[in-house]
Amino acid sequence: MLALLHHFTTAMFKTPSLQVFVVACLAACAAASAAEPKLQHPLTTAPLDGDMPGRGWGSVPIQEATWFEMGYSLNITFGNPPQQVPVYLDISSPDSWVTPEALPDRHRVCETAPTFNTSASSTFLATSTFARFHFDWLWGQGNLSYDTVSFGSLSVQHQAFAIPDYISSDAWGFNACPMAGIIGLAPFSSRTERDDFGKPSPLVSMALQKALSKNLFALRLHGPRAELSFGRTNPGLYRDGFIAEAPLTRHRSRIWDGGWQTTASHLRLEAWDADNSFVADLGNVPATFSTRSPQIHLPKAVYDSVYAAAGFEQLPGWLMPPTVDCARRFDMPNVTIALGDGMESLTLTAFEYTMVWPLADPGPPQCACLFTTSSGFDWSGEIILGWAFVRAFYVVFDLDEKMIRFATLS
Ligand SMILES: *[C@@H]1O[C@H](CO)[C@@H](O)[C@H](O)[C@H]1NC(C)=O
Ligand SMILES: *[C@@H]1O[C@H](CO)[C@@H](O)[C@H](O)[C@H]1NC(C)=O
Ligand SMILES: *[C@@H]1O[C@H](CO)[C@@H](O)[C@H](O)[C@H]1NC(C)=O
Ligand SMILES: *[C@@H]1O[C@H](CO)[C@@H](O)[C@H](O)[C@H]1NC(C)=O
Repeated sequence: MLALLHHFTTAMFKTPSLQVFVVACLAACAAASAAEPKLQHPLTTAPLDGDMPGRGWGSVPIQEATWFEMGYSLNITFGNPPQQVPVYLDISSPDSWVTPEALPDRHRVCETAPTFNTSASSTFLATSTFARFHFDWLWGQGNLSYDTVSFGSLSVQHQAFAIPDYISSDAWGFNACPMAGIIGLAPFSSRTERDDFGKPSPLVSMALQKALSKNLFALRLHGPRAELSFGRTNPGLYRDGFIAEAPLTRHRSRIWDGGWQTTASHLRLEAWDADNSFVADLGNVPATFSTRSPQIHLPKAVYDSVYAAAGFEQLPGWLMPPTVDCARRFDMPNVTIALGDGMESLTLTAFEYTMVWPLADPGPPQCACLFTTSSGFDWSGEIILGWAFVRAFYVVFDLDEKMIRFATLS
């Protein structure tokens, strides 16, 4: 729950003093809300698809970790013989890390998740290269290491990842189970001026090792059939034909260097009332995909127009995001974001760009706005397409054709 608040608060406050305020408030709020009901997002087990993985491709089920609003987790294995570890999926960074069995409990993000016993793997290779990594609200550091990493039946040899000897979660004291690591699937290595380790992601390693029939991965984040597949798409998870495609770009990004990125040309809001509808020019700003947080970051002026036309309001309360009465969602406008050269079909309904807010006061359920902005801070001049956007489609991240393709979910 605190991780969820983090997404909503860090977007608003980027100055240290305000963060201190928010941390203090979070502690108080957490105590105050101890009696509130738990979030209604039980762990679900995604069934494996009927067909067996073949040569050159592989797939793994994904689980929503929405009780923390953190993102998406999957089980992969490290080492030889393979050890299964739950990790979070990060498509905006090439960097991966896994908690070693030897890390003291106090440094773990989740004390109950299985960890990686490096000394039990015959292929594990430690180095003395320092590596630092970031994942939204936490960061860590340790040494760069190499070992086999497997996604279902698909293995990548000698994959680089960090073995942290220190993990900080901003000292906010929440337990991000079942996380024991991060797997980064960005197309490019991070640049050297950043303090990350600058090694190929597992996707790029697979491409270099010619492990895949096609150098791509496809994501379905939605529902119980959520899946990550490498090397091919899974036709059972989307309706025939792609509705849009956008070229992979690599503009300078102040946030996630090396991530899956394209450009955004405009945003169209369609309300029942034509007077309330509009088209906003986005000027082909870089648009980076992310599975780290739900939110869709828009330029300030565009965000303000969407906020007004959709009828969001700011209820009192320090940690309250803009919300609407959830019952209104049937009548709210649709928002279309045109990527690349101007595809028109990537439309989100209010059910996709809002989320039931779990901490609301008594009264009609409130739905939080998943659009956000951050005037003047880190995200100016860029758009972030968080998982609220990614989850609305079947998305193919194609390294061979340097293209990102979208299909309708089946
Ligand atoms: C990972 O494996 C554990 C233990 O087998 C299981 O409970 C969990 O549901 C799995 N998670 C995913 C995302 O498949
Ligand atoms: C880690 O692996 C080593 C080597 O196989 C073994 O001796 C040790 O007991 C393992 N540690 C744990 C906690 O299982
Ligand atoms: C990590 O690297 C440092 C040098 O940067 C080295 O002194 C240390 O022994 C390494 N740790 C491990 C566990 O390999
Ligand atoms: C929004 O899209 C949904 C689903 O495509 C459609 O049923 C609805 O009529 C649209 N609403 C508006 C205001 O265009």
